[in-house]
Amino acid sequence: MHRSLDDLIWPRRTERLTVGRLTPEDADVLWELKGDLELNRWTTRVYASREEFRADWDALVATHLLAHWDGRLAAYLMVKHQDAWSQADVAEHARGQQVELGWVVAPWAQGCGIATELVRAGLSIAFDMGVHRVEAGCFAENTGSWKVMEKVGMRRESHTVRDCLHRDGQWHDGYGYAMLAEEHRQPV
Ligand SMILES: CC(C)(COP(=O)(O)OP(=O)(O)OC[C@H]1O[C@@H](n2cnc3c(N)ncnc32)[C@H](O)[C@@H]1OP(=O)(O)O)[C@@H](O)C(=O)NCCC(=O)NCCS
Repeated sequence: MHRSLDDLIWPRRTERLTVGRLTPEDADVLWELKGDLELNRWTTRVYASREEFRADWDALVATHLLAHWDGRLAAYLMVKHQDAWSQADVAEHARGQQVELGWVVAPWAQGCGIATELVRAGLSIAFDMGVHRVEAGCFAENTGSWKVMEKVGMRRESHTVRDCLHRDGQWHDGYGYAMLAEEHRQPV
């Protein structure tokens, strides 16, 4: 039996972070992270305009958690609840069995272990949702991102070659990481 983000109790606290759901009051600070081209050099999406960001708001509310450190937005965590891959005849049993995580740390909060702390919390959140597997991916050149995944104990499961088209026009390598519920021992 798995749960959605709506079924969990918010906010959650880690050593330094208060992790909670998105509210309309957060729109301005989140936009600062989501619309910053340099910060999003290696992320899936950068919003080109405030209108584009506003149009996606409901999807962001459903999938994004905010992490405040001393009352200031330090990072966000994407928690995408998905179906795991399965053979077609057992698809019902794979439904909702996986979470994909993604994260961005505000420039002022980088270099202090915040991503590591947040992704650890993300793993706990995902496994509290009852899923079988958590995965995350990054461009191979995004050293900071894959180091975080290694630090929290995720396993590198794939190195894909020049399969990721970047907005720089080049095809880049990607890394895929994962952790299974039975491998998750670390308390937040
Ligand atoms: C990558 C990012 C999440 C790292 O956040 P952070 O809070 O600074 O990371 P942490 O402090 O927890 O660092 C974890 C490890 O990664 C290393 N690291 C962090 N940024 C790094 C970088 N740019 N290059 C090399 N190593 C880096 C740290 O040194 C640390 O390793 P160590 O303990 O061995 O020293 C942050 O720089 C960021 O948000 N970048 C832009 C968005 C992004 O790329 N998100 C990920 C998309 S997949």
